Amino acid sequence: MSALLQLTAVETDIAGSRILRGVNLAVNAGEVVALMGRNGVGKTTTLRTITGLLPVRSGTLTFAGQDIATLAPDVRARAGIAYVPQGRDIFPHLTVEENLHVGLLVHRRGRASDLAGLERVYSLFPVLKEMLTRKGGVLSGGQQQQLAIGRALLTNPKLLILDEPTEGIQPSIIDQIGDTLKKLKAPRAPADVFQRAAQDVQAVTLAVQHLKEEHSLAILLVEQYVDFCREVADRYYAMDRGAVVVSGEIATLTDDVVKKHLQV
Ligand SMILES: Nc1ncnc2c1ncn2[C@@H]1O[C@H](COP(=O)(O)OP(=O)(O)OP(=O)(O)O)[C@@H](O)[C@H]1O
Ligand SMILES: [Mg+2]
Repeated sequence: MSALLQLTAVETDIAGSRILRGVNLAVNAGEVVALMGRNGVGKTTTLRTITGLLPVRSGTLTFAGQDIATLAPDVRARAGIAYVPQGRDIFPHLTVEENLHVGLLVHRRGRASDLAGLERVYSLFPVLKEMLTRKGGVLSGGQQQQLAIGRALLTNPKLLILDEPTEGIQPSIIDQIGDTLKKLKAPRAPADVFQRAAQDVQAVTLAVQHLKEEHSLAILLVEQYVDFCREVADRYYAMDRGAVVVSGEIATLTDDVVKKHLQV
């Protein structure tokens, strides 16, 4: 079976400097893959190359069996690649509801499937339903992150790409995520689980976990928190200076690997 997303020897330049020096990476359908590495090694550049915001200088980039290297970003989005950039990428002056409707504009669909999509997002992120008329800009950071992910899901992607979804959230709360996920291992109805997730970051984590269980889409996420990756990812790649230096099943992300390639 060929991968949903495949990068082979991908090189990318920014402003005349070589930033990616031959990245090899694959994401299979229904899989969660963590892309890790210290600051400035090229993680975001890799994501921007996949989504078409930066041109591929050389190498090959395929999605669902198709060469996408020269397609425009909006064409890649319609083909099923959704991207939630680093930081809070929502429209601050639009309401939560209006922000979500932007996601629906990517595809022309019937009203029934739009409503079903919105219901799915509200069940993943109940807080959004409570705040539909509020401006995006006044939400908390974690709520904005949920809104950005919810909007991305409304484009009905095959691959959801997240750049540091837990960034800027307190370390003490990140620690709680691991505990919450452990409790999740006993099967339980998702709606119930999400209502219990009072904290924003827990909602984000639980949503990733739930989407993974649903196996309805693949997720590629850039993430610095090793424990978070161990909880949600199936496989990992670690980058250094523009290339992947180690990768494997998440169980092989040992403390030695972390020390050598990820710790500052
Ligand atoms: N617009 C730009 N102009 C010049 N250099 C850039 C630009 N954007 C990124 N770079 C450089 O490319 C390298 C990789 O940046 P990138 O944003 O991909 O790193 P990252 O792994 O996502 O880091 P972080 O963990 O800090 O987000 C860095 O050395 C950065 O300084
Ligand atoms: Mg980055």
